[in-house]
Amino acid sequence: LLSFAPAAAALKLQVDGQAVVDQLMHLAQWSDDPSPAVTRLLFTDNDMKARAYVKQLMREAGLQIREDTMGNVYGRLPGSDPTAAAVATGSHTDAIPGAGAYDGTVGVIGGIAALRALREAGFTPAKPLEVVMFTSEEPTRFGLSCSGSRTMAGLLDPAYLDTLRDVNGSTYLQAATAAGYGAASSAQMVAGARRTPADLAAFLELHIEQGPELEKEGLQIGVVTAIAAPAALRVKFSGDGGHAGAQLMPLRNDASLAAAELAIFVEQAALGTGVIDTVATVGSWQVQPNAVNSVPRETALEIDVRDIDGPRRDGVLAAIKAKAAAIAERRKVRLQIETINQDPPAACGTEVVAAVEGAVRELGLSSKRMVSRAYHDALFMAQIAPTGMVFIPCRNGWSHRPDEFASPSDIARGIEVLALALAQLAGG
Ligand code: GLV
Ligand code: MN
Ligand code: MN
Ligand code: MN
Repeated sequence: LLSFAPAAAALKLQVDGQAVVDQLMHLAQWSDDPSPAVTRLLFTDNDMKARAYVKQLMREAGLQIREDTMGNVYGRLPGSDPTAAAVATGSHTDAIPGAGAYDGTVGVIGGIAALRALREAGFTPAKPLEVVMFTSEEPTRFGLSCSGSRTMAGLLDPAYLDTLRDVNGSTYLQAATAAGYGAASSAQMVAGARRTPADLAAFLELHIEQGPELEKEGLQIGVVTAIAAPAALRVKFSGDGGHAGAQLMPLRNDASLAAAELAIFVEQAALGTGVIDTVATVGSWQVQPNAVNSVPRETALEIDVRDIDGPRRDGVLAAIKAKAAAIAERRKVRLQIETINQDPPAACGTEVVAAVEGAVRELGLSSKRMVSRAYHDALFMAQIAPTGMVFIPCRNGWSHRPDEFASPSDIARGIEVLALALAQLAGG
């Protein structure tokens, strides 16, 4: 059993859940879709307004602000040992179209509240404490998830980043530069955000569960022990199109039918492992020219495949690629396949898990260990530092929808667990 540092045990933390919820609701107003939906894409006007608000909250919490070349925003509480590697927390404030007010934001606003509560309780950490607002955890604008944390971990190739475009044809570097970030080149921008084990001692992310288990089991805290491995493919079938009336059936090579066959196979491939942890989704489907009286000429799919077991996930990816090639050949359509990302799973650090469980015990809360099936910035931070996550219940397990909800008391408990665990990890 881990025993808590006396300074942490004696902390009288004041966390006001309702005040944090008020800040979350304030943040939610910056959305490209009407309330209660939250849509906030990287480096848009609403993202910039959200960033300004996050920085204001950091400043009010007495934190030192720093921003890096990729657009990650840091708030820092200095430690008594100025040479020590930092203990960090944080999450994201970007939101996919039609999302809610809690995904990611609880870990940013709650992270600021945790550091503020520690500072106001008179706690001086030995190691510096940081809260990070990671740039673009969601893959919305450039199709790339976890842009900020992926770069910190050294896992983003700037040459690959340069191949990505948003709907207006902009590169990440152009969008970042327009937002006041960026560097002279993508290589320099990526290098500017790099973190290493030498400057990062541990990472702990607070997040809503985005699943139903905690609420169903009546538990207050989820102690995450592993994060499932995510991957995404972009598959494009192209045929010759034609007139929906005049082009006779035997002469067609319909790109949408090839995509339809592949989509059904994606479901079969996930079910086929016989393991409940394998999931696969065809969540994006674009048809050209998308006209009722035209044979589909081009169909582009984005396919998401995940598993707790990396090699098993990779087997499903390989089967999907082979099937796509076979369908293309039989249906005489052209095929392009691109792997958008194929990331490893993450195991959480034992000392971080122990710090979270110590905090849960100290606060007298109920909890269980669990895996995260969604990915998070923690997936990438785990590549460079011992990492953990604190989950709190969310209503019906709903997420990525406007009616996403976590209660003020669950949010406050999550922040208290986060604060105590950070204090334990930072020493003081
Ligand atoms: C992150 O939002 C995910 O898709 O898991
Ligand atoms: Mn999300
Ligand atoms: Mn999230
Ligand atoms: Mn996410």
